[in-house]
Amino acid sequence: MDILVTGSIAYDYLMRFPGRFTEYFIKDQLHQVSLSFLVDEMTKHWGGVAANIAYNIALMGLRPKLVGTVGRDFPEYRARLEQVGVDTSTVRQIDDVFTASFFANTDLDNNQIASFYTGAMAYAKDYRLADVFDGQPDLVVISPNDPQAMSNLAQECRERGLRFIYDPSQQVPRLTGEELDRDMQGAYALVVNAYEAEIICKKTGQTLDDLCRKIEVLVVTQGPRGSHIYQNGERIEVPAFPTDHIKDPTGVGDAFRAGLVRGLVSGWPMQLTGLVGALCATYVLEQVGTQNHSYSLVEFVERFRAHFDDNGVLDSLLQPLPATS
Ligand SMILES: Nc1ncnc2c1ncn2[C@@H]1O[C@H](COP(=O)(O)OP(=O)(O)OP(=O)(O)O)[C@@H](O)[C@H]1O
Ligand SMILES: [Mg+2]
Repeated sequence: MDILVTGSIAYDYLMRFPGRFTEYFIKDQLHQVSLSFLVDEMTKHWGGVAANIAYNIALMGLRPKLVGTVGRDFPEYRARLEQVGVDTSTVRQIDDVFTASFFANTDLDNNQIASFYTGAMAYAKDYRLADVFDGQPDLVVISPNDPQAMSNLAQECRERGLRFIYDPSQQVPRLTGEELDRDMQGAYALVVNAYEAEIICKKTGQTLDDLCRKIEVLVVTQGPRGSHIYQNGERIEVPAFPTDHIKDPTGVGDAFRAGLVRGLVSGWPMQLTGLVGALCATYVLEQVGTQNHSYSLVEFVERFRAHFDDNGVLDSLLQPLPATS
């Protein structure tokens, strides 16, 4: 089973400023801002949407191929992803630049000043899937990336008849209606949250019904209210997975997509596929960071069965997979 997960691969540098930014913005001096905030706390996290999705797919027992561009600071991240079961042979390293990095400084009021350095991600548009993987993948995920790269990848999937999931999430505000409409053409599935669905409809001048007519599987996640999966003119309502120790919602959407991919490639019923996505998301909610959680498939299936009936389908998660290429 060859699953190619394309998109951003990044480091997140998160800082905490033990003061209030607003006290340093002086009204008469805003034309010449020069501020430096001394921070006592900084943590560095593994991140990037494609890497998050691939990490979670690996936890679900598959070996996804991560496709993206990274910089010279990537070796430690590569080793770590390989260790959890992500195939990074399809990641291109460009030594002149650093891996995309998100630097965020948050103050006592939770105000945030952040910068996203695109770094090696700007080179993603120079690679086709065919440049990094010469086989015929079973499924391609197009997640947030350099916008031109996203367009190119969608185009390549259409040209080569590859089944792809279009997952524009964080790039929705940045893409025009025309770009969104063009890039989702031919997608097997479109996955967005409710807010993004609304923006897409507004920007493209279409309704959800219009989108459903074009795309076989439309998934609209609804945060704590679960998700809606539209297929064959039907709306399947999937609840969120019960949890009582939420720590940090960052990365829930990415983990949900991993469970969704796991169910789609295995041909599981759609309701079960959505519920598996919801449980994948719950593990992320219960930890700080997007890749700091872990579980065995035995634990996963047990936890699932404590709340929902899978009619034995998840037994397949407990059996060894046939060797892949
Ligand atoms: N508070 C919550 N409690 C339980 N499950 C949740 C909660 N928030 C999100 N989820 C689960 O995660 C899934 C995706 O959540 P959501 O719709 O918030 O994605 P998102 O907005 O794309 O998230 P992200 O912040 O990662 O971009 C939901 O369908 C649900 O199953
Ligand atoms: Mg999201």
